[in-house]
Amino acid sequence: MTSSPSLPNFDTILDRRASDSIKWNRFEKDVLPLWVADMDFSAPEPVLRALRERLRHGIFGYPQEVRGSREAVLSWLERRHDWRVDAEALVFLPGVVTGFNLALQALGNPGERALVQPPTYRPLMEAPRHASMFRSNAPLVQDTDGRYCIDFDAFEAAITPETRFFLLCNPHNPTGRVFRRDELERMAETCLRHDLVIISDEIHHDLTYSGHKHIPIASLDPEIAAHTITLIAPSKTFNIAGLKASVAIIPNKNLRKRYEAARRGLVDWVNLMGQIALRAAYGEGDSWLDALLHYLEANREYLFNFVHRELPGVRMAKPEGTFLAWLDCRQANIQGNPAAFFLKHARVALNEGKWFGSQGKGFVRLNFGCPRATLKEALERMKAALTA
Ligand SMILES: Cc1ncc(COP(=O)(O)O)c(C=O)c1O
Repeated sequence: MTSSPSLPNFDTILDRRASDSIKWNRFEKDVLPLWVADMDFSAPEPVLRALRERLRHGIFGYPQEVRGSREAVLSWLERRHDWRVDAEALVFLPGVVTGFNLALQALGNPGERALVQPPTYRPLMEAPRHASMFRSNAPLVQDTDGRYCIDFDAFEAAITPETRFFLLCNPHNPTGRVFRRDELERMAETCLRHDLVIISDEIHHDLTYSGHKHIPIASLDPEIAAHTITLIAPSKTFNIAGLKASVAIIPNKNLRKRYEAARRGLVDWVNLMGQIALRAAYGEGDSWLDALLHYLEANREYLFNFVHRELPGVRMAKPEGTFLAWLDCRQANIQGNPAAFFLKHARVALNEGKWFGSQGKGFVRLNFGCPRATLKEALERMKAALTA
């Protein structure tokens, strides 16, 4: 990667241990952490500049909605995702997890059901329980190449008269699928036929690779949009998760009113620095993101080739989006939990597959949002552990 001052150098290794990073401080010092989903890259210069400028002012009293932040989101959605949204549809929130939990609390009733597609991001699977609801599973299934697909018969069969919500995750964590238009249309058609509200976690929306394009499910047509709450954030894209700035997109006025009513007194606005960062990221982050995607895609290729050539018994399908890889270790001759094995014998921290549901048993999730040298070092350690 270039070392030109205007473009980022993603090869730079930054010490994060002194920065109160959960990723880097959860394990002992000799462990390389490739687990929780943040990246080891500095945020884009325009974001840093905007934060520095605001910091220089020195007063951090109650903010109004930061001027231009709404416009920055709308313009980003149109520019990067071909999706035109009305300004009043945006609801700013301190977190996507907060956003989907709030949706169930605001719109659902105890005893109702929400549908999820495991293996998936655990907080999505836990959200129904937090709202005194039940979860219905429509697991994704693997084809012969290990790629995850939707079993539409199982999807339909999992919907009962009590099912009121579908919790979609797209791009999908941890499988890395970026759902195609035909898949989204069929899921949306099924949801509308059963009168479900779609709560779509699209936090990884900007992180897609060659040949794959993220399509917001609500952008398919106005009727689908009227049944959908979409959740996005600049947090994964620009590595600013600690600033807690996210957005719910709720074009349906009635749903939005109920959502806003449920948040009152419980779910606060976005902190000042988060708003400033969000505006700068969506306003000026394009070229940084393009460079990031280029770098991450090369990491993905390196990882894929290494796994297939050097890690005996481990398989993976290439993620179509996200900086997360889902490694199938079931044939790797590991006794017990593979994440525990790699932590103990390779000193590499990965997410345990079972965290994403029982379908994840025998898998680990690896975060390749790091300098290539870190990735290489982790993979060499994993190889040594497997071949010892
Ligand atoms: C699919 C998904 N949704 C939500 C989050 C977290 O969102 P937030 O930090 O905004 O609550 C993550 C983080 O890994 C994620 O992967």
